[in-house]
Amino acid sequence: MEKIERNAPCWCGSGKKYKVCHAAFDDKLKKYEKEPYPIPTRDIIKNEAQIEGIRASSRINIAVLDYVAEHIRMGMSTAEIDDMVYQKTTELGGIPAPLGYEGFPRSCCVSINSVVCHGIPDDKTFLEDGDIVNVDVSTIYNGYFSDSSRMFLIGNVSEEARRLVDITEQSLQVGLQEVKPWKRLGDMGAAVHDFIRQNGYSVVREIGGHGIGLEFHEEPWVSYVSEKGTEMLLVPGMVFTIEPMVNMGKPDIFIDEEDDWTVCTEDGSLSAQWEITVLVTETGYEILTY
Ligand code: CO
Repeated sequence: MEKIERNAPCWCGSGKKYKVCHAAFDDKLKKYEKEPYPIPTRDIIKNEAQIEGIRASSRINIAVLDYVAEHIRMGMSTAEIDDMVYQKTTELGGIPAPLGYEGFPRSCCVSINSVVCHGIPDDKTFLEDGDIVNVDVSTIYNGYFSDSSRMFLIGNVSEEARRLVDITEQSLQVGLQEVKPWKRLGDMGAAVHDFIRQNGYSVVREIGGHGIGLEFHEEPWVSYVSEKGTEMLLVPGMVFTIEPMVNMGKPDIFIDEEDDWTVCTEDGSLSAQWEITVLVTETGYEILTY
């Protein structure tokens, strides 16, 4: 930790003097340096202006998903969903973060049934009666990033598929109960994992969530199969996603070799995902996107 003179400007960029900004915070953080799990670096701790920027980006992300929710229909192609996301995002002054991200060709991910995540929208895949569909939207606005995804039920969805979607959504609330400053990120992932297993499902291990805000994907990487008391220390000003991928069958996955993106369940079982972006506050958490 680099030492700062008490009257110098704080490292967080708030413009305030260090002594009235993050000095006490740094003293407290120092005590955790000896623990075997990581503490956050300064570059992932957001100041109030940055948080306001991420909130504004998040409002667009939410509005885009609300728009998708209103218009998504059986018989629609996944490319039509993508068009809605692109149109609405740009109309609101944002840029779809996935577009061109590491070569991703579209503005959002659409993942149907046994597709776990990163489904690429196309004009040959249509929403069918009984499908469960994840639409994952991410926005850049004024340089700030936000990210969230929701599940949509198309037509008559089976009771068992509905339950999968429902339990997955509930797992976010279970995880959120563990999001508190000066606790460990692993507590959150452990709570999600326990809840999902108690309900008879499995959680994907290889793909997780991420810090977000100034970049699309920042530290820390976020697991939903972690152990209590492990992983990065949570502190006020951290922003990350909670986005567990929950399989009805086994947790194993594979990536489609044809496009190098689409992630599917190995056993062909259904998979669901909900994603929110959360801020760690002085007292707990604030949900930025849903
Ligand atoms: Co994400």
